[in-house]
Amino acid sequence: MPEPVVRTSAFTERHLKSALHLVDTEEVNRHPFFMEITGLLMCDIDFDSNAHQVARDIVGGIDHMATLPEVTLRIIDIIEDPSSSARDLHRVVSSDPALSSRILKVVNSSFYGMPRQIGSINRSISLLGLNAVKNLAIAASLGRIFRFDRSLSHFRVRDLWDHSMSTAAASCLVARCNGSKSTDEAFLAGLLHDIGFFVELQHDSASFTSMMESVVVDRNGTPDVDLLELELETFKTDHQAIGAVLCEQWKFPRSLVSATAHHHDPSVLTGDESLVPWFVHVGDHLVAHRPGGFRLDLIENSIHEHALEALGIIDADFQGILDQIDGVCGDMGFSIAA
Ligand SMILES: [Fe+2]
Ligand SMILES: [Fe+2]
Repeated sequence: MPEPVVRTSAFTERHLKSALHLVDTEEVNRHPFFMEITGLLMCDIDFDSNAHQVARDIVGGIDHMATLPEVTLRIIDIIEDPSSSARDLHRVVSSDPALSSRILKVVNSSFYGMPRQIGSINRSISLLGLNAVKNLAIAASLGRIFRFDRSLSHFRVRDLWDHSMSTAAASCLVARCNGSKSTDEAFLAGLLHDIGFFVELQHDSASFTSMMESVVVDRNGTPDVDLLELELETFKTDHQAIGAVLCEQWKFPRSLVSATAHHHDPSVLTGDESLVPWFVHVGDHLVAHRPGGFRLDLIENSIHEHALEALGIIDADFQGILDQIDGVCGDMGFSIAA
């Protein structure tokens, strides 16, 4: 276990004093009220940075999951390299027949509604764009790195993966409602949002098992405790922080890191950075209404009060989104277990 990260509180103290109209004197500094409130603020700051450091240590300690397939890493490198071209991407995608046929299937699906059949990777890349092809390649590779052999009393890895796919489809449909062109990015963000749980399981399966076994759920699947708080007690961090560190390690764009880090409360973000996290937040809560699946981390299944306002969605057809989830999963090349 690493030592807690201690950050200077000079900034906090200065602003606290100015907010309280206090003068910076020894007498004020030693006043019990000021010492207590500064201590509380310090706890929060240290805790957050400590949770992030613990998440980094946990991700650093897992091996097979922390490595994406070779072809996916090469695709990410190509997109990041400003001197690379669509031809480079075509060469790498074509070297993987399974990935090539998957991309052709996606581009020809009803989701993209192309007027005629697309038969080449080159044409797919020019129609979808480099970034979308990269996101599809990453999504396709994620399913390959999970092991589905864990089953507890009310937690199965397979259910969590099904939940991730449903959330991916729902996030993508919410993005489309919002008029966003980043539907592929929303899909990938939904697929990744709870990936921190998979890491916790790989990191310490005994602690993960006893944590999950301690949660009691009612007949609707609503948990009796806040799983995020249980994670903090168990791992000194949570699945959001761990997932975000993994996304950083994989060199994923900021929007995916933010969506993983803040899908339970995107209101802490502002501007464009909050958009994909809001898609995922809404998607996550929508799919919780579907029978079965995974919702142990949603003690309250209500979408954040500012979500629709933040997304500029006035009239959301949530039932329509729920009805399309299986179809979109299929269009993207995923199938949810019956
Ligand atoms: Fe979550
Ligand atoms: Fe979730």
